Amino acid sequence: MAENTLMEKLVSLAKRRGFVFQSSEIYGGLGSVWDYGPLGVELKKNVKDRWWRAMVHARDDIEGLDAAILMHPKVWEASGHVAGFTDPLVDCKQCKNRFRSDDKRIKGTPGQPDAQCPVCGSKGTLTEPRLFNLMFKTFMGPVEEHASVVYLRPETAQGIYVNYQNVLNSSRQRVPFGIAQIGKAFRNEITPGNFIFRTREFEQMEMQFFVKPGTDEEWFEKWRAWRMEWHHSIGLTPAKLRWHAHGPGELAHYAKAAYDVEYEFPFGWQEIEGVHNRTDFDLGRHQEYSGKKMEYFDQAANERYLPYIVETSAGADRVTLTLMADAYREENVEGETRVVLGFDPGIAPIKAGVFPLVKKDGMPELADRIYHDLKPQFPVFYDDSGAIGRRYRRMDEAGTPFCITVDGETQTAQTVTVRARDSMTQERVAVDQLAAYLLPKIRAR
Ligand code: GAP
Repeated sequence: MAENTLMEKLVSLAKRRGFVFQSSEIYGGLGSVWDYGPLGVELKKNVKDRWWRAMVHARDDIEGLDAAILMHPKVWEASGHVAGFTDPLVDCKQCKNRFRSDDKRIKGTPGQPDAQCPVCGSKGTLTEPRLFNLMFKTFMGPVEEHASVVYLRPETAQGIYVNYQNVLNSSRQRVPFGIAQIGKAFRNEITPGNFIFRTREFEQMEMQFFVKPGTDEEWFEKWRAWRMEWHHSIGLTPAKLRWHAHGPGELAHYAKAAYDVEYEFPFGWQEIEGVHNRTDFDLGRHQEYSGKKMEYFDQAANERYLPYIVETSAGADRVTLTLMADAYREENVEGETRVVLGFDPGIAPIKAGVFPLVKKDGMPELADRIYHDLKPQFPVFYDDSGAIGRRYRRMDEAGTPFCITVDGETQTAQTVTVRARDSMTQERVAVDQLAAYLLPKIRAR
C-alpha cells in the first residue's frame, strides 16, 4: 500500500468509526487541532491508563501529580523556553506564506536573490530567517498588557520541577524517586501535520526521576529499557520500534544525553517518546530564578546536593496514532476487502460486540440481557442493524477483538457463538461462562 494512501485511509477510518474528527469541522476546521470521538477517547484513555499503571501504580518510587496548565511566567524564563524555544522562520514577501528556514522545498538560501518560494515560485522574495517562539501567549486578568502575559505550557515537565519539594515533603519518598504527570501541552508548531502526529494542542505523559549525581547514567539506561518494554506491552510491533541517539548537534539545551523511541510510520521513522538525562539543569535554573533552595538533603549520608533528572516524555496522541497505524491491515476475504484494526485486546476501545442474529424469536431480548450483564465489567457494543457480516466488519474496523452472537440455539442450549476478530473462527460458549471466557483474553498484558 502506498505510504500516503495508508495515512489517508487511517484518517478516513478514524472519522467513519468515531476515533478522531477535525476540530471545528463545520467551520472549515482549525489547523492541526483534532477532537477525539467515542472510540478515540477510549483508545487514548487506555493508553494513558496503561502508562499510569506502569509508572505510578506498579511502582513504589513514583508519585503522581496534576499541575495547572498556566504557570508563573518566570517558570518559562528559568526553563529557557522564552529565550530558546524557537524555530527559524522565513516569509515570502510576494505570497505572504511562512516556512521553516530548513523546509526542504526551499531552493537556494533564504534572504538571498537565488532563494525560491516553494508556494508561489517567486525568486528573491524570501526573507532572512528570524526566530519565532513556539509558545502560545495569553493574558491573565482583564488587562492585555506585557505585565499580564502568561503562556500555555509547551511541556508538562516544568510543573513537576516546581513541585518537586512539595511532593518530597508530603510523601514518604527519598531520592531516587520520580514524579509522573499526564496533561495537555501546547505548541504553535510551524510545520504541523501527519494527522495527530504533530498538533498544536496535545497530551504528554511525562515522568521526571530524581537521582543522586553520578548515578544518573545508570538510571538513564534502566529507564530506556523499561520504556521500550512498555511500548512492546501495549502491542506495538517490536520490529517497527528502534532507538535514535541524539548527536551533539541535536541535543536540547538541557540534556547531557537523549534517546528517542522511534516508530516506523508510513511517513518514515519518527519519534514517539524521548528519554533525556537533564542533569541538574532544571532544578539549578529554578533555584536561581526563584531564589528558593532546591537541594535535597540526604539524612543518612548527611550530604546536600541538587538531584539530577532522568526524564521520560511520551505523547499520548502520538502513541494513539502509532497504535492505529500499527494495527491497520487489509485482507482479502472471499473476494472482498476486510479492513481490520488488529489492536491488542487489552488496548482495544471496545472488547466485544453483542448481536442478535435476527430481530425476532426472542433473540434481541437475550442479546440485550447479555449486553447489560457484560457492560459493567468491560466496554461492549450492542448492534442489531444490517446483515450479520456487515456488523462483524464494522467491529473489525473498530478493532473489537470479539463478537458475541445470539442465534437459534441460544434459547434452547443457553450458548452463543464467540467470533475472534483475527482468526474469524467461532466457538460456542455457555452464556453464563461468557465473562469468565473473555476476561483473561482481554486483560492487559
Ligand atoms: N519535556 C520534554 C519534551 O517535551 P519533546 O521531545 O519536545 O520533549 C516529548 O516532546 C514528546 O511529546 C514527543 O516524543 C512527542 O511524543 C510529544 N510531542 C511533542 N510535540 C508534539 C506535538 N506538536 N504534537 C504531538 N505530540 C507532540
